[in-house]
Amino acid sequence: AIQACLFDLDGVIVDTAKYHYIAWRELAQDLGFDLTPEQNELLKGISRMESLDIILAIGHVTLSEEEKIARATIKNARYLELCQQMKPEDALPGVRAFLDELQADAIRIGLGSASKNARLILQGLDMLDYFETIVDGNRITKGKPDPEVFLLGARDLNAEPAATVVFEDAVAGVQAAKAGGMLAVGIGERTVLTVADIVIPGFENFSLTDLRSQLGLI
Ligand code: G6P
Ligand code: MG
Repeated sequence: AIQACLFDLDGVIVDTAKYHYIAWRELAQDLGFDLTPEQNELLKGISRMESLDIILAIGHVTLSEEEKIARATIKNARYLELCQQMKPEDALPGVRAFLDELQADAIRIGLGSASKNARLILQGLDMLDYFETIVDGNRITKGKPDPEVFLLGARDLNAEPAATVVFEDAVAGVQAAKAGGMLAVGIGERTVLTVADIVIPGFENFSLTDLRSQLGLI
């Protein structure tokens, strides 16, 4: 039986990738190069400072540690400014209904995100109350694909990893779930999320019954 479900935030609960992209692109352009949407894909699930390193490598730019921190701080301020437009109706289609179903079935719910802004974003969506635990970028020492974020989440919820389902849109996130011995539901495309147990396009028209049957748990 499913004891707990752990959700990634960006790209699973809400589409913040578009705001991350705008803010990262401005940083790149400020340094004299551009960042394509394809390059932005590489940053999904990756922490802020690791993302910055990837972007600087793309632009063949080297910065001192102090400069990196200063640039990342500006990027984050811009990202948060963009996120202020966010409203409860910006939660991705079907997510709320799916969380309601889990609650009604007494399946425990947690968040597992690399973001240091997770609480703020959930607050903006008015969704904080759904989550019994939030494991975010402020708490973890190793980023995805390391399983730490999800293992801490399962432990907080007293769930066995094998009875925990992780919902993830990032390759690194699906890898983290599998490395932790959990069931992984990819949100996106099978060709990209190759190691997920099942892949769905999103939560629209996706019920707990669908989850159980597609994972072969009924
Ligand atoms: C998520 C996003 C990444 C982002 C990371 C850190 O994993 O998918 O694109 O870089 O969180 O987010 P933060 O809000 O801490 O900068
Ligand atoms: Mg994500």
